[in-house]
Amino acid sequence: MTTLATGQIRTDHMHVLTLAHRYKHDSSPRTKQGIVRNVCAALEIHAALEEEIFYPALEAAGIDTKTAVDTEHGDIHRLVDRLKTMSPSDADYDETFMSLIRQVMHHVADEETILLTEAERRMGDRLGEIGRAMTRRRMELVKSRAGELASSFAQASANKSMLLTGGAVLAGAFLVSRALSRNGDAQRYQA
Ligand SMILES: [Fe+2]
Ligand SMILES: [Fe+2]
Repeated sequence: MTTLATGQIRTDHMHVLTLAHRYKHDSSPRTKQGIVRNVCAALEIHAALEEEIFYPALEAAGIDTKTAVDTEHGDIHRLVDRLKTMSPSDADYDETFMSLIRQVMHHVADEETILLTEAERRMGDRLGEIGRAMTRRRMELVKSRAGELASSFAQASANKSMLLTGGAVLAGAFLVSRALSRNGDAQRYQA
């Protein structure tokens, strides 16, 4: 993963949307719930990195992030919180997840076309330093949620091949696998 803050953010967006793309209306309830849990965790980690580190750095450089945080992140957090209380058997489970993904796609488009390009234009070399701070914080967040991330990822994986090839599809996934292989949980959850 790139160390530049903006590159990390683009990679996270791609990972979340790739994972969400695996959600099908006719998937089993267990697979749906695994994908939803995994997408929600990845979004929470991503939003924390932006809200704690990236957006404050942008604000300090004179770039306004208010709409992104107050409106768009607010909507995403509300839908994530709602999904976490729902069951795949609920009539509006599919629709709620689709609403979340529509919001995420809208926000990603805004973020990538406006905030990231502004940051790259105005902040230059500082993006490396901010990226390193984000990587350190990502490690902490992933480690504190390693069991949950691994079990939701295993649940989301319909078969072994997705588990192996899809290992890259989640909040900075190579960091997840590094964190897991360190404490041996990877083998336990994949067994
Ligand atoms: Fe983002
Ligand atoms: Fe964002």
